[in-house]
Amino acid sequence: MRKNIVAGNWKMNKNLQEGLTLAKELDAALKGKTLKCDVVIGTPFIHLASVASAIDTKKIGVAAQNCADKASGAYTGEVSAEMIASTDAKYVILGHSERRAYYHETPEILKEKVLLALANGLTPIFCIGEVLAEREAEKHFDVVKSQVEASLFNLSAEDFGKIILAYEPVWAIGTGKTATAAQAQEMHAFIRKTLAAKYGEKVANDTSILYGGSANASNAKELFSNPDVDGGLIGGAALGVDKFLPIIEAF
Ligand code: PGA
Repeated sequence: MRKNIVAGNWKMNKNLQEGLTLAKELDAALKGKTLKCDVVIGTPFIHLASVASAIDTKKIGVAAQNCADKASGAYTGEVSAEMIASTDAKYVILGHSERRAYYHETPEILKEKVLLALANGLTPIFCIGEVLAEREAEKHFDVVKSQVEASLFNLSAEDFGKIILAYEPVWAIGTGKTATAAQAQEMHAFIRKTLAAKYGEKVANDTSILYGGSANASNAKELFSNPDVDGGLIGGAALGVDKFLPIIEAF
């Protein structure tokens, strides 16, 4: 079912105590409020269990920002989808452009991660998006289409129905340069059309597609008012309740 979602991506910010404080502040700020969207926070791995037990996880979903591409075993330093699920986190952000660029995550690796996430009952928030040179060369539609095809189109329609997509133009991430509402809508509509061609209209219409990239309290309302923009994946503006709450309330 298509939902409005505002998801925070804390990236590698906040130590455990700071993260717990932020999560509890958000929990308190949302208490008693009727929201028009689901709220998710993506914390570092080591925060997951503590954060999940400190907040009302029916109101705020908890997400990891990555998972291993192997189920278990001798992979020193890795964290499996099963481990994440055991903390009561329900989501995992996969394919973020920072993981693709700095940690060389390929479409093939991401395909494995998606399968393991789904096998362990986690909802992937799968990120796609072009870099500036690709947009300037007018290749952005092709790039985004091939990212979806390469890591997700192996899924059955039933499994694809469990995926949340996040369109994050790389040139907009952390740069203060947001895509215009029209650019976001154009790409989201294109993604939905691509999904419809593969899985049919129903699956396409039921998929939540979030926008990410310098989304904040002042542009969220305009971005979210587009028919194909179902919410946001928020980095910098998710690091304080004062900035994050108005984005949630933009719905
Ligand atoms: P930003 O990050 O909101 O700081 O641009 C978004 C993201 O990378 O998910």
